[in-house]
Amino acid sequence: MADSSHPTADPVIGAGAVSGIAAGAATGAASGIAAGTATGAASGIAAGTATDTATGTAPGTSSGGDTGATHDARPPVGLALPDFPWDSLAPFAARARAHADGIVDLSVGSPVDQTPDVVRDALVAATDAHAYPTTSGTPALRAAIVEWYARRRGVTGLTPQSVLPTIGSKELVALLPLLLGLGPGDTVVYPRTAYPTYVVGSVIARTAGLAADDPSEWPASTRLVWLNSPGNPDGVVLGVPALRAAVARARELGAVIVNDECYAELGWNPERWGGSAHDERVPSILDPRVTDGDNTGLLSVYSLSKQSNLAGYRAAFVAGDEALVQRVLEVRKHAGLIPPAPVQAAMIAALGDEQHVAEQRERYRVRRVVLAAALKAAGFRIDGSEAGLYLWVTRGEPALATVAALADQGILAAPGTFYEGEKSQHVRLTLTATDERITAAAHRLAHLSKL
Ligand SMILES: Cc1ncc(COP(=O)(O)O)c(C=O)c1O
Repeated sequence: MADSSHPTADPVIGAGAVSGIAAGAATGAASGIAAGTATGAASGIAAGTATDTATGTAPGTSSGGDTGATHDARPPVGLALPDFPWDSLAPFAARARAHADGIVDLSVGSPVDQTPDVVRDALVAATDAHAYPTTSGTPALRAAIVEWYARRRGVTGLTPQSVLPTIGSKELVALLPLLLGLGPGDTVVYPRTAYPTYVVGSVIARTAGLAADDPSEWPASTRLVWLNSPGNPDGVVLGVPALRAAVARARELGAVIVNDECYAELGWNPERWGGSAHDERVPSILDPRVTDGDNTGLLSVYSLSKQSNLAGYRAAFVAGDEALVQRVLEVRKHAGLIPPAPVQAAMIAALGDEQHVAEQRERYRVRRVVLAAALKAAGFRIDGSEAGLYLWVTRGEPALATVAALADQGILAAPGTFYEGEKSQHVRLTLTATDERITAAAHRLAHLSKL
């Protein structure tokens, strides 16, 4: 369990935040909330004020200069975020749009099929929302989340206090380090090939960030580990043994470990995922075969965006260690970020209906078969891609060369450079296009010049 010899191994996270937002100034340096300014300059994040104060050189004041000069001398406010990668795709999108039969945009995993009627009807029925929604989620929604984990994920033992609805899961991924009170001196770990928002979350909280899949590489300063199984972009699924190893190491470090599981209902190779040969589920981090019945330090994040075509509703939730969930809730009671009441009602309908999920899964399965066959025939190798909405492919050349070649055929793909760095030789193609566009892509791939 926790390594008490290390000062960061204390599993109690976010104590400063729980004691109240206003306490941030007094306890912030210890809790990480509002603590960034003191050391922000060291991490290269705009934090001039505290540094000036610490060195006694508050600009302007000592020389008796006017306040305008003081402000001009400060660095601009803001976070040192990475460039938003999708902006760089514009020239390739223009090239693809020039195709005589129009663009096939396979670059973004945004659902194209309709939101199911059962969910839309529930939203409509709940539009009288004059009162503030419950921050913790209505009792009916929390019960629906608990019941869904047991029925669909084989996760038993959750309670209404150990689940919490969130506005989307991207928002939670980006804010969780901050909500847990992490800050400078702490390390957030995430996969080497990863959805970019894990890095963003560590920048926002001013923690160090480390891309490392091997648990033995996670440093003693680790306080939060992100797993993403099934993975975006590579569709890799962590089986029970891999999840157990990650959980064991996180517990040794006293770190919180979270699995982002939004593609869990879209597994394509179930026989490969450990545990029982008869269990077709992608394992959750909260699966009893992983936890041995103890959820301490563990969280699962799930989103309804993909399984239910609800990306526009911003409907997701987090579940697991009751104490951690309650800490996040405590901050949220002060700070808001409450899922709107009609969306909460729609989530109950989505969680309770399996038919629309099965239908959507079948649509993706067919598209995946068509696209995968065409990619293989065109000389691509498909890596990972055992689950989820993407085919992660390579033809052994720099990612941007493949993106350019595909754009010439009117197909827009996301370069692997967005997810695994400049040297990537992968591109990611999404299944979130209509059957007609996927078929068009398959035909066009036959015209791709061979390397
Ligand atoms: C791995 C992963 N996590 C989280 C999200 C965010 O989903 P949402 O914010 O729609 O819940 C996505 C969306 O593509 C994703 O791929």
